[in-house]
Amino acid sequence: MCGIIGYVGPRPSQDILISGLARLEYRGYDSAGIAVIDGEGGLGTRKRAGKLQVLRDDLAAHPLADGTTGIGHTRWATHGGPTDANAHPHLADDDKLAVIHNGIIENFAELKSELVAEGYTFRSETDTEVAAVLLGREYQASGDLVEAFRATVSRLEGAFTLLALHRDQPGLVVGARRNSPLVIGLGDGENFLGSDVAAFVEHTRHALAIGQDEIVAITPQEVTVTDFSGDAVDVEPFEVVWDAAAADKGGWSSFMAKEVSEEPEAVANTIRGRVHDGLVQIPELDGLDELFTGIDRVIVIACGTAAYAGMVGKYALEQWARVPVDVELAHEFRYRDPVIGPRTLVVSISQSGETMDTLMAVKYAREAGAKTLSICNTQGATIPRESDAIVYTHAGPEVAVASTKAFVAQITALYLLALHVGRVRGALTDEAIAEQVAQLEAVPEKIARVLAGEQEHIEQFAHWMADTRSVIFLGRHVGYPIALEGALKLKEISYIHAEGFAAGELKHGPIALIEPGQPVFVMVPSPTSSPLLHAKVVSNIQEIRARGARIIAVAEEGDAAVLPFADEVLRIPLAEPLFEPLLAVVPLHIFAMGLATAKGLDVDQPRNLAKSVTVE
Ligand code: F6R
Repeated sequence: MCGIIGYVGPRPSQDILISGLARLEYRGYDSAGIAVIDGEGGLGTRKRAGKLQVLRDDLAAHPLADGTTGIGHTRWATHGGPTDANAHPHLADDDKLAVIHNGIIENFAELKSELVAEGYTFRSETDTEVAAVLLGREYQASGDLVEAFRATVSRLEGAFTLLALHRDQPGLVVGARRNSPLVIGLGDGENFLGSDVAAFVEHTRHALAIGQDEIVAITPQEVTVTDFSGDAVDVEPFEVVWDAAAADKGGWSSFMAKEVSEEPEAVANTIRGRVHDGLVQIPELDGLDELFTGIDRVIVIACGTAAYAGMVGKYALEQWARVPVDVELAHEFRYRDPVIGPRTLVVSISQSGETMDTLMAVKYAREAGAKTLSICNTQGATIPRESDAIVYTHAGPEVAVASTKAFVAQITALYLLALHVGRVRGALTDEAIAEQVAQLEAVPEKIARVLAGEQEHIEQFAHWMADTRSVIFLGRHVGYPIALEGALKLKEISYIHAEGFAAGELKHGPIALIEPGQPVFVMVPSPTSSPLLHAKVVSNIQEIRARGARIIAVAEEGDAAVLPFADEVLRIPLAEPLFEPLLAVVPLHIFAMGLATAKGLDVDQPRNLAKSVTVE
């Protein structure tokens, strides 16, 4: 939620800040702002409600004096609406100090009362300004920005990444983090801070991950990290594997279009390096067999699309590893006193690795003695750092708010994990693993076939459906989470009401929704590999067709049984049941995007949302 960047070095900072914010805009796009210590030692700020372009236009029309120390922010509003006044940076100490923030300061009201009683005044409704004023007060007392930061963060409760600079200390940006992300980019004679590596990947791929409750001070030549008590701490260096071009739109009309087109590579790259002689070997899990042998249950926790990937993964983990699996929404998990302990493996799934609901659930699970493994797409992110083991998805940077390529990568990682656990627990023979691996390895080419064969067709009928007010998605078995994902994607980017149901559940109530013309997408299982399920779903189609529904069937190539009852058929290549979700979801992603585009909506930045939900 909110993207943050800081820069110190020899170069004028405004362009660096603005282009970093452009890469972070997916984190929030209600308002944006920058603060720069100019060459004359003045502190200039500019902030505007609206997308980054509004700020850009403003800076072009009324340039701000440039300088080589600066911070920038792009906001997803929490406290106070998206106005110029509530946009960051917030100023204090007679406008000599600027602060930006990501997160929520839970005790801001009581701190504000304390400061108001001392005579301080406020210009915004934000919790951030309270931190800024507090920091200003501490700076007045010590004259040292790092010391003042230390005193300030010790008073704050909640989640925060804070960055600050002070006019009287040019060449210094100070940051602190608790339960919100912050990474350091190491340049040559210049250094960066960012909410994630996208902020600075065009300048450097050398990075340091900052731990919980740590303070960092960067100057052009030096990076110092201490804990909140002032003791030096070790920081973990890493090389960013993404290149800057991967986080650019290239020639695509939207990041989402680009990312859907990258679904084949997201699967292929997640498999790469983890299959040897037909068997799964996940280097990150070497020596960690006891995570999988000493357990009698797995709980998968995640939110939104990642949770649907988890639901698909449950089928594979149970079928291949013969271990019972529950899938839970992370935000529900820790509030119901779950029965977990050392014999539970909690698998978290998160593209960003920063989703607060998931992070808190992981911490809860660890404290309760469970083992934790995280499936994550973002290096240096918090959730993997809080887990006993990590399996990275290699989908590359996902910028569009709606998750697409990360979803197929998450399912792929779960399948690799299920095969690995199946071997470690002795539930699968090498031959059985090799058979499934061969199926998995065939998936990227099959997804590419769906994209090549169906994209135009789907975009065309999505266009015809631009006036639709409601869409239903049905699936059975692994098709059920795909129906949920199809509905979520449509709601999220086209603002059309959509619901996903287990096809068998329809007759227990939702069938009452069907009236003439109601569009219903149906995930049709393979007639070859799941004949029984196929027959049941074809019956479900007939039931709703008889009541006037307009059927859009996602069906295997050559499946003729659906033809008499379907208004549209979207074809996917033949695959074993467990691999169908990776193919069936592709037309649904294209459809959601096609419909939102037909309605003239911004598919990358849907209203009210942000990519990384770092508040609970
Ligand atoms: C939907 C979507 C969200 C995320 C969810 C979890 O398209 O993107 O539902 O899947 O917010 O995000 P991560 O995976 O970053 O934890």
